[in-house]
Amino acid sequence: MLRRRVNFLGFMLAAAVLLHPPRMLATAPPPAARPWMNPSASPEQRADLLMKAMTLDEKITLMHGVEPVPIKGYVGYVPPIPRLGIPAITEADGRAGVGNGAKNVTLLPAPIAAASSWDPQLLNAFGKVLGEEQWKKGTNVELGPSIDVVRVPEWGRTFESYGEDPYFNAQMAVAEIQGIQSEGPIANANMYVTMNQESNRFREDSIVDERTLHEIYLPPFAAAVEQAQAGTIMCAYVKTNRVYSCESADLLSDILRKELHFDGWVMSDWGATHSTLSSVEHGLNQEMPGDKYFGLALKQAVQSGQVSEALIDERVRQILVPMFRQGIFDHPDHGSWSANVRTPEHASFSRAAAEQGTVLLKNQGGILPLAKTTSIAVLGEAGGSKPKAEGGGSSGVVAPYVVSPVDGLRRAAASAESISYADGSDLNAAAEAARKAQVAIVFVHTDETEGADRPSLSLPGNQDQLIAAVAAANPKTIVVLDTGGPVLMPSIDKVAGVLEAWYPGQEDGNAIAAVLYGDVNPGAKLPLTFPRTATAIPTSTRQQWPGVDGRSIYSEELDVGYRWYDATHNQPLFPFGFGLSYTTFRLSHLSVTPASVQTGSSFHPVHVRVEVTNTGQRAGAEVVQVYVGQPAANGEPPHQLRAFGKVQLQPGETKTVTLTLDQRSFSIYDESARRWISPPGRYEILAGTSSRDLPLHGTVIAGGGSQ
Ligand code: BGC
Repeated sequence: MLRRRVNFLGFMLAAAVLLHPPRMLATAPPPAARPWMNPSASPEQRADLLMKAMTLDEKITLMHGVEPVPIKGYVGYVPPIPRLGIPAITEADGRAGVGNGAKNVTLLPAPIAAASSWDPQLLNAFGKVLGEEQWKKGTNVELGPSIDVVRVPEWGRTFESYGEDPYFNAQMAVAEIQGIQSEGPIANANMYVTMNQESNRFREDSIVDERTLHEIYLPPFAAAVEQAQAGTIMCAYVKTNRVYSCESADLLSDILRKELHFDGWVMSDWGATHSTLSSVEHGLNQEMPGDKYFGLALKQAVQSGQVSEALIDERVRQILVPMFRQGIFDHPDHGSWSANVRTPEHASFSRAAAEQGTVLLKNQGGILPLAKTTSIAVLGEAGGSKPKAEGGGSSGVVAPYVVSPVDGLRRAAASAESISYADGSDLNAAAEAARKAQVAIVFVHTDETEGADRPSLSLPGNQDQLIAAVAAANPKTIVVLDTGGPVLMPSIDKVAGVLEAWYPGQEDGNAIAAVLYGDVNPGAKLPLTFPRTATAIPTSTRQQWPGVDGRSIYSEELDVGYRWYDATHNQPLFPFGFGLSYTTFRLSHLSVTPASVQTGSSFHPVHVRVEVTNTGQRAGAEVVQVYVGQPAANGEPPHQLRAFGKVQLQPGETKTVTLTLDQRSFSIYDESARRWISPPGRYEILAGTSSRDLPLHGTVIAGGGSQ
């Protein structure tokens, strides 16, 4: 072994001499002259050592991308500095797989699907697949995940995010970022912040109060920084309270650096930099994708004394520290864009994630699961001719293949001949096919994409008519939704079954067949509310969305998502947290200990225990959800998710789920004091299986105290 290594080293040395002309070898400094390359020094020490050796030009090189990108693939590129051993920064999109036209990669389900598993371990594995494929493609900054709280149900990028609850998004973000970063690349938490609509996205001004900002929109980013040590954050296109995100003193300096102690780098979304001075001063580290403000203009600002070199040092150090922390300097050759990075394991993971993310929304008379001998009419474009496996925009992935639902069903059925298909463009033909089969399955879809919000929550084209025509022809009609967000369902009462399969990725048909036939028992839950009507939504006025005169007013304040439905006693079509199974569960024996807590520095976490029993005939998973209702005087929404846990149970089995409530569960953000406080009082603890099904109640008496 040792001899082999010596030989290998000898070979490498000979190769180096052959490959490098002697002049280059002579000018490259010996390792001792590059003390920052010592991996046993801390990332901070290494950054400091390197910066001492850097010229102003070299520092500025790190602070912007170059266009056009000289290497095929990466959407963002900062050239290497060979003199100092600084590797290129290679940034590639990736929300559901490596993007930017990469070939031979895995198309995963949309993040909203993965999040619907309510399983942080699944999100962690999702991040690992993404991180590994990016790393092998030579990417060292993975441009994901997108962690904004979904405020507007029509938002075109809903599918790229996790859902409408800040605590929920925070858990998912931490899990995915840790997964990504464990495989090599630096993760990029985006888009910071209040990036909640695509309409007028380059200029829109989100007018939001500080309390709402802190309680609803910031928690996923705070968790990404504090719990997952995300190396980079992407500031968003939009303005928040009149200031562009990438030059906001409030967002970048006060919140990100001072409150959250973020020590990594902020890169602008593509074209989201609008200035040199206020951007660099308030905290932007890297302009992407080019150098309009952070190239020559920045250098001149330093030379004329408008920007101090000390400030440049601070910004560059914030880039170098996460690079050293992630080992980017120590592993310069980890892959290339042309590599084939997809594997059978990643394909099985993609399928498992789609299965675990499929939400059973209606199952009248137990129509599902289907027997494999059932004759089925598969209808709708998404069912066969045009499977809807992913959303549009920069998250787009070149899928190696997509298994269509009809193919997946034919593979899994007892006999492929019992499955017919029609694309639904001819309603009569679709109804006729439905009539001839025992069961009809209508696959409907939306075309959600970055760059545009949906004009309405209705299904586009003739799809509602298709559902109605098929349901009239066959009462055993099941609807499968391939959507990135909620849709209205005017024919919901006429169909027997509904599944939300989201954008399921390359294994689309295999995953949905496994769920329809009961090879997989669905255990997913909605991470956002489905409204009953177009206007019964939290953001129904034009002032709120898409905004008037370039401003979107966040007048619903804390009442985002289910919080609004609860506060206004509005019955949603399907509530946040809802999802059925092929088995049934009973929750019992809630215990909350201790029954009273001190807040402030003497706070101890509260433990919530719930017994869950599988009362049905099949093995399955249930998600126990714990919501906290604050004292009325706190002015909070009726109740808010503060803990959840998923448990797998055999028929008849009972398990105790123990969840923990942290201090934030008993806190509000005090806008005038600019800090979190815990008003004393009686806090309700509600446990159940959706935001609208919370049968178990307890209380905690919390004492006052600041944090
Ligand atoms: C998107 C980002 C993306 C970037 C690079 C922007 O338009 O908003 O999410 O990372 O393009 O493709």
